[in-house]
Amino acid sequence: GKVCPSEPFRPHVHFTPRALWMNDPNGLVYAAGEWHLFYQFNPVSDVPGNISWGHAVSPDLVRWTELTGEGNPAIPYDGDTELIFSGSAVVDQDNTSGLGTPENPPMVAIYTSANATKQAQSLAFSLDNGRSWTKYEGNPVLDEEQKEFRDPKVQWHTPTRRWLMAVALADDRKVRFYSSPDLKEWTQLSEFGPMGAVEGQYECPDLFPLPVDGDLERLKWVLVVNVNPGGLQGGSSAQYFVGDFDGERFVADDQDPKAVRWLDYGKDYYAAVSWVGAPDGKRYMIGWMSNWQYAAKTPTSPWRNAMSVPRVMSLRSRPDGGVDLLQEPVPALASTLHRTAEPIMTAATLNVSAGGAAVVANGCDGAFLLEVTVSLVDGATGATVLVRAAEDGSSGTGIVWDSEKGELAVDRRKSGLVDFSADFPGVHGAPLPYASLADGKLRLTVLVDEGSVEVFADGGRVAITDIVFPDKERKAVVLRAGGAGGAEGERGSVVFADVRVV
Ligand code: FRU
Repeated sequence: GKVCPSEPFRPHVHFTPRALWMNDPNGLVYAAGEWHLFYQFNPVSDVPGNISWGHAVSPDLVRWTELTGEGNPAIPYDGDTELIFSGSAVVDQDNTSGLGTPENPPMVAIYTSANATKQAQSLAFSLDNGRSWTKYEGNPVLDEEQKEFRDPKVQWHTPTRRWLMAVALADDRKVRFYSSPDLKEWTQLSEFGPMGAVEGQYECPDLFPLPVDGDLERLKWVLVVNVNPGGLQGGSSAQYFVGDFDGERFVADDQDPKAVRWLDYGKDYYAAVSWVGAPDGKRYMIGWMSNWQYAAKTPTSPWRNAMSVPRVMSLRSRPDGGVDLLQEPVPALASTLHRTAEPIMTAATLNVSAGGAAVVANGCDGAFLLEVTVSLVDGATGATVLVRAAEDGSSGTGIVWDSEKGELAVDRRKSGLVDFSADFPGVHGAPLPYASLADGKLRLTVLVDEGSVEVFADGGRVAITDIVFPDKERKAVVLRAGGAGGAEGERGSVVFADVRVV
């Protein structure tokens, strides 16, 4: 749906604070009909510092109401002595912590108290659905005299009837698991790592179960470990492991210490964590849509940085016995876009011959969701979808499929403003072997908002998230036969079927 923006690059269907600096999502909990999104927030400026928690709520994970703002964070930093680093939140339904009452169970935030010499885990609690917060007087509740020990993710572990925490020993590239009966006393259970991508620090771990092919009898556990730097495209990135968790220890299926599975192949999906307490039992994740390489330099004002669209996570079995982790934008996204405006295009099919291009939609300068099924015919080897493009296709953000390379990439070199950081322009590719596509067709779902492009390919098996800063003139969607190379030597044609733009 087309909506007129009032501030350049202010997204329509992605959360941004009205003003000031934001990084990681924190305290993702569903309670009393509301999805809570807390986040790393500087209540006085638009660069990192004075880190506190900001807060927003949503009825559907798409429309957000910001409850905090300048000088008014949810959980405030305290001078140089305590920054409120990342963490999680739970509803302590049985009042195990004693911080509420049986009639009014507390919402409890578990965060990292950070200063120049130490990081330890602390609690704050709210008795009014997260509107006001009190720091627990017995803080910190988990202090191992560590300097790089942060980002506790707490959940209720039903089989063992106790609280479970995953927390990062950032420099050691380890995730530690702890248990607690009351959120105050923590006992170490086990350690995981170093494994996978270990060049940077481990940050913001998350652990959650998912049914394979929707079968609740076949649960696997997913351990998400964010890393910075040393990410796939440089800077920060999220990786994950699939395995088993017995209540004490997580064991990855793939024991190769160097095997890396990236959650997203773009450059702007970091500190990804999931909601606890979803009423439908599903698993929703969100990431910070930026990268520590340039997050403090992005050309937006008066705010800096946005969250990704929340994603529904699932596991699908592969013919070879492995499993794929899939992600799709939350269902409320499409209905929100529908409510805002009439669909721009429904179910068109276009046949484009080698080297040719078709402008399928113009005037797309708000947020829109593009769906298309791409088939390569008679020897064609690639196809490109350009969004936020000039009508002649000379500039824009490319979603480029190269079947010979077996790769899908987002190319933002000509996306608009790119020169605010040498680390920004680039091509961000994901492996997508032709043979892995069930019927040789590539299904794409692309969410374009004022400042971002999120690509979900083949049912969400591949996700690529990149922020972009296009100028107002770039409003076209262009479908082109041909991949990364020029038109030269291209053969055959490309069928773009079931093109929908809402
Ligand atoms: C990840 C991170 C966390 C830390 C927070 C500080 O982006 O570095 O490890 O808690 O940001 O704002």
